[in-house]
Amino acid sequence: MAKMWAGRFTKPSDQLADDFNSSLPFDCRMFRQDIRGSMAHAAMLGAQGIISAADADTIIAGLEEILADLESGALDFDPSCEDIHMFVEQELTQRIGDTGKRLHTARSRNDQVAVDLRMYLRDECDTISALIRELIAAVTEQAEAHKNTILPGYTHLQRAQPITFGHHLTAYGMMLARDLGRIADTVKRMNQSPLGSCALAGTTYPIDRNATAKALGFDGPCVNSLDGVSDRDYCVELLSALSLIMAHLSRFSEEIILWSSWEFRFVELDDAYTTGSSIMPQKKNSDMAELVRGKTGRVYGDLMGMLTVLKGLPLAYNKDMQEDKECIFDAVDTVKKCLEIFVPMIRTMHVKTDRMYRAAQEGFINATDLADYLVRKGLPFRTAYKIVGQIVGHCIQTNQVPDEMPLSEYKTFSDLFDEDLYSEISLETCVQKRTSQGAPGAMEEQIAYLKQL
Ligand code: ARG
Repeated sequence: MAKMWAGRFTKPSDQLADDFNSSLPFDCRMFRQDIRGSMAHAAMLGAQGIISAADADTIIAGLEEILADLESGALDFDPSCEDIHMFVEQELTQRIGDTGKRLHTARSRNDQVAVDLRMYLRDECDTISALIRELIAAVTEQAEAHKNTILPGYTHLQRAQPITFGHHLTAYGMMLARDLGRIADTVKRMNQSPLGSCALAGTTYPIDRNATAKALGFDGPCVNSLDGVSDRDYCVELLSALSLIMAHLSRFSEEIILWSSWEFRFVELDDAYTTGSSIMPQKKNSDMAELVRGKTGRVYGDLMGMLTVLKGLPLAYNKDMQEDKECIFDAVDTVKKCLEIFVPMIRTMHVKTDRMYRAAQEGFINATDLADYLVRKGLPFRTAYKIVGQIVGHCIQTNQVPDEMPLSEYKTFSDLFDEDLYSEISLETCVQKRTSQGAPGAMEEQIAYLKQL
């Protein structure tokens, strides 16, 4: 079919160039938003008397049919069309004749694509937020079940101080809570309507940008028409929010992989979310978690791709911007898939409380509490710290744990030690007494926070 702009040219474009130029294979997923946008535009043109009310009605009815046929699968995309906007317009004109040619009055594909993308991503933000909430619920459920399950907390991947598994999981809940907030922030700036910016300079027709913005659920129109068609900040913002979601899922994955190893055996993933090996019969691999960790790189790449596309682009629209879609669609699809798999993986994760407890007993993780014991008996912290360091060294040499070292031996380090030290440094006491805000002994507030999100 001849191009819309064939009149200005003396020969048709090369097939290779057409293929290179086309975005239909990936922007066809925005057909609903494109059609809704066109309906709102047609209604506004009719209301403003820019086209007749009858023409507006005919256009809207035609668009409704196209939408229904695309939804039902009765209509296929025509691969010869350059993009979704051209396809819908061509189909409309084929169905309703010349009236269809009035739709593109006071509009350009530049503002059209910007509207479509904002609406599409706005919907995806809702889906992603719902998935994050589900994951927060799954994490919170496990956290509540394990608010008394003791395990070592680590720094430098060395056993540091006793915490509970519930406390550890709640930390991931907080990351996810911030992710929710970041998506909501992104939507605030995304939810401005570029429609009516036209190609770049607005229009001489008496359009009503507030009406289309309202009809399409935007908070209002973009204030400057050049910015309206060339702004892709919301893509960068969303991609960085998505990158951080992946960073969190990737850290979580890394821990799950470590915890599932035979060395740790802190958790066992459900069979439904693990794989075996084709050669080693004993293997049970955390493939889902590993894939999430791996896919994080993809999403970071999508963010870098988007930032780089925008760098140095002169105002206003440039075809480079067509490159916004594949990276952001890839990131959105990837994050949704990762969140979807994470929810049941966490929900069904079996926690080996005995292994966690044993690890907590073996790492001198109550050494700080032993020092605090001496502080309570009157020693300055630094002096107590030094004595406990010597005790730990002695325990390593004599192959014993502080919880079991006899009082007589303690007395050789300081005569402030007494029988009560054993209950004071028990793992349970160490955890329960940490009642400062945010600590493992103060879980109610943390759980309540996650539950109200
Ligand atoms: N397919 C194009 C895109 O995704 C639509 C806008 C085309 N505008 C233009 N002036 N060629 O960016």
